[in-house]
Formats: sequence, C-alpha cells, structure tokens
Amino acid sequence: MEFKAVTNSSVSGQLPAADMLVVGVFEEDTLTGVAQEYDVESSGVISARIASGDFKPKLGNTLVEFNAGPSGAYRLLLVGLGKKDKFDRHNFRTAAQAVAGELKGRAFANVLVFITQEEQIKFETELDSVREVVQALREKEYFFDAYKSKPEAPAPFPTLITIVVSDSIHQNYAQDAINTAEAISLGMTFTKDLGNTPGNICTPTWLGEQAKTLISDKVSVLVHGQAEIEAMKMGSFLAVAQGSIQEPKLIIVEYNGGAVGAAPIVLVGKGITFDTGGISLKPSATMDEMKYDMMGAASVLGTIKAIAVNNMPLNVIAIVPTCENMPSHNAIKPGDIVTSMSGQTIEILNTDAEGRLILCDALTYAQQTFKPAILIDVATLTGAIVSALGEVHSGLFTTDDALATRLIDAGYGSMDTVWRMPMDKEYDEMLKSNFADMANIGGRTGGASSAAAFLARFTADTPAWAHLDVAGTASRGGSAKGATGRPVPLLVQFLNNLAIWGSK
Ligand code: BES
Ligand code: ZN
Ligand code: ZN
Repeated sequence: MEFKAVTNSSVSGQLPAADMLVVGVFEEDTLTGVAQEYDVESSGVISARIASGDFKPKLGNTLVEFNAGPSGAYRLLLVGLGKKDKFDRHNFRTAAQAVAGELKGRAFANVLVFITQEEQIKFETELDSVREVVQALREKEYFFDAYKSKPEAPAPFPTLITIVVSDSIHQNYAQDAINTAEAISLGMTFTKDLGNTPGNICTPTWLGEQAKTLISDKVSVLVHGQAEIEAMKMGSFLAVAQGSIQEPKLIIVEYNGGAVGAAPIVLVGKGITFDTGGISLKPSATMDEMKYDMMGAASVLGTIKAIAVNNMPLNVIAIVPTCENMPSHNAIKPGDIVTSMSGQTIEILNTDAEGRLILCDALTYAQQTFKPAILIDVATLTGAIVSALGEVHSGLFTTDDALATRLIDAGYGSMDTVWRMPMDKEYDEMLKSNFADMANIGGRTGGASSAAAFLARFTADTPAWAHLDVAGTASRGGSAKGATGRPVPLLVQFLNNLAIWGSK
C-alpha cells in the first residue's frame, strides 16, 4: 500500500484510472460537494440508495455501489459521515476506520479517497484528516501472528491510495502529512510488535537487541548490563531486578537530528518485561496482560523510529531501564530498604509498585548524563489511572504549566489525548516512611498522583519534567487484547511541534 496526494482540480472532469472512489455522505439528505458530483455523473444512484433506505448515512455505515459513473466504469464506496453539525475529527476517524475496514481484502490497483476535503474539515484540519486516513489503513493492516504455527495469509490492500485534497496549496502539505502519518505508523507498528511479544521472548536482553535494530547514521544504541548498572549505583533498579534470572539492562538510544550540542529531549520508558507483582503477587486473572508492562519502553523506542524516519531536526534520547518483576528467594520483600542512584533511600512496602523503583534511577541517570531541555517519562505505572481515565486519555503529571499545555495540545493534534492530573504536595506527603527517606507507595487512594509524586522526588534537577501514565491507553484487554501503539502519535506530534515552533 502506498499513499499519494493529488488536488481536486487534477481529477475533476477526467478521473484517473481507479477501481474505487470513496465518497462521504452526511445524514441530512443533502449530498456533499463530491458526492453530489458523482451522484449526477452516476444518474442519481447515490440519492436513489438513500431514498430506498439501502444506504443510511449514519456515521461509519458503508455501502459499495458497483457500476457507477457515466459508463458504469467504477465502484463507489459510500461512507456515512453522520450529522453534519456534529461532524468533527472524532467522527472523521470513525468514518476513516470504516473505510479502512472496507478496503481491507481488496487488492485494487488504485483507490481515490475524497472524504478528507469535506467542507467541515477544510484548511488545517484537512491535513489532519489526511493523516487519519493513512493511519486508519495502516492500523487495519496490522496483525501479529509471529507465534501462530499456521499463520493466515495477510489480507490484501489496494496498491495505491490516492487522497484527493481541495486545492494545490494543500498538495505539498498533504504529502508531508502522509509522510508524517507513515512515520508514526511505522513507529506504532514497532511499538505494538514489541508489546505483543510474549514475556518468555521479550526479555530485557531481547529488548536491547530490538533497540539495536534502530541503529543508523543518526541513531546510536548502547546497552548496559548488570555490572555497569551496579557501577552506577542504581540500587533501586537493581532491587527490582534481583528476583529474576533475567539480567537487567539499561538501554540508551540517541537520535542526533538537531544541532550539535543542543540540549536533548529525553524520553524515559518503563521496561518491565513482565510484572508478576513480585512477593506482593498479583492475582492470576488477566496477569498475562502484564507482558504489556514494557509499553512505556516500547513507545519511546517506537517514537525514535518515527522521528528518525521523518528526519526530525532535534536531538532526542530514549532511556529504557528494563527487567522482570518476579517472586523468588532472591526477590525484594516488603519492608526492604534500598538506596537509589540519587542517594535517597526507599522503603519498599509493596513490591508491585516496582515501576517507580526502576524509573527513579533512570531519571537520575538521564539528568546527570544528558542535562535534558525536557524530560518525559512514559510508564504503565498504576491501576489507579485506569480507574480514573479508562482507555480514553493517558494521565499527564507535571508542575510545568507550559509543558502541560504543549503536551495537551499535541494530544488533541494527534488525537492521542492526555488528561492533566493533580500534583499537590499532599500526595507527596503520603510517601512518608518511618524508616527511610520515603516509601514506595502512598495510601489506598490517589494512587496515580502519589506515584507521580514519588517520581517528582527524582526530577529536581531538570527544568521541565512530565510523567505520562499510560496503563489504560497502551494496551487493550478482552477480545481486542493487544498493544495500541499509544502514546507514539502524541510524542511524535509533541516533538514535531517543538521542531517547528521551538520551545516557546
Ligand atoms: N504495572 C502495574 C500497573 C498497571 C496496572 C498497568 C494495570 C496496567 C494495568 C504497576 O506496576 C502496579 O502494579 N502498580 C500498583 C501500585 C500499587 C501497589 C501501589 C497498582 O497500580 O496496583
Ligand atoms: Zn507492579
Ligand atoms: Zn508494573
């Protein structure tokens, strides 16, 4: 599948050879500009289908009409856009997903897509719509059958998807939008593949090997093992790792696309390749989903993949502390006290609150080694954020209002949204320990914020730090079980905005 943008005027009058035209229809009887045009050309076939009730243009409904056009030369794929006054990007995404579902399985040479230029989504948002079409198709194309003994043949897709945009000014921008969407999709696929790989394969060592596949002229990768991590005195990270037979790794991926010496943006990703809870063992039901406890790591690596493909003019570093959280004779026990790389001591009251224990040392390392302009950690950190925000938004924690605004904006821009959560000092006070500088858990309530408060104690040396809790958004459970690729779109959009607008 390949994508191309052309202008409306270049196709009007004389359609290029195409197997199918994708045309949007609103619920109100009025056909949109393009639908109207093809209705006339097709002797009223669209309006006839609507009048007969064969096609109800409710959001996401589809109908394939054969033998359309003046001489019955092409197929029309009608997609319902719902109510005109309710039409927004969310609805556009639903429509684009429906189109992608219809195109899956069709081995066409060329499909012309007209839905991005509907009146309501003109100008800036037309480009967002172009991105949505590309990402919806790439999402539909994704499958993970590496561990099926008899994998099914992958469904065919059209060879070329030609997206028709409203005017020539938009054509170059639309091509940029396609390139960005392709880069994001590649990053998301990488992220999903890492996440969906089972814990017996996806070990810290394997994750380090996967990171090395990113190596290029602008990307370097360094993987530290147990000895180096010990030498760096990452006592908190090592404490989590000590219960497992798998060697912990600290993965550092540097993308140098910006000016030499420009302070980097550092992304730290939680890389627990399996979270049993340790001695504070988790219940069995759905414990398999704890293979996704490395989605923070997977998403920062996928983000590097995307920005490297896009040649983004920034310096960005991904840091991944990765290990397993296992119960064993060697494992940490509730009540154990460890000394973090920062020198602060931690009483481990619950071994299942392990993410913060590996992140705190990685955050200290990030600040000491790279002096980042911006530091963002991404982690499947708490069940509490799942209760609060579900699968809709990732939790955003920061005391930096400017950074919060930029991340929230990037969330809306990419439709990979975040919701800002509180960081009052009362949450920090919950971490009091009778025996060490702090405990690794707060009370029974406010768990997402007390976890963020814990991390904040290790980020005092950075001008701008934010924490993204992606426990609810990075993967899905139930019958749709799988990694989502979030928050790669958010991070790429955030970085793209920084590259274009700078940090002001
Ligand atoms: N990996 C989990 C968080 C999680 C929960 C991710 C559900 C995805 C879905 C994390 O390590 C954890 O177990 N957190 C505990 C913290 C508690 C012991 C303070 C939690 O949220 O229950
Ligand atoms: Zn845990
Ligand atoms: Zn965890």
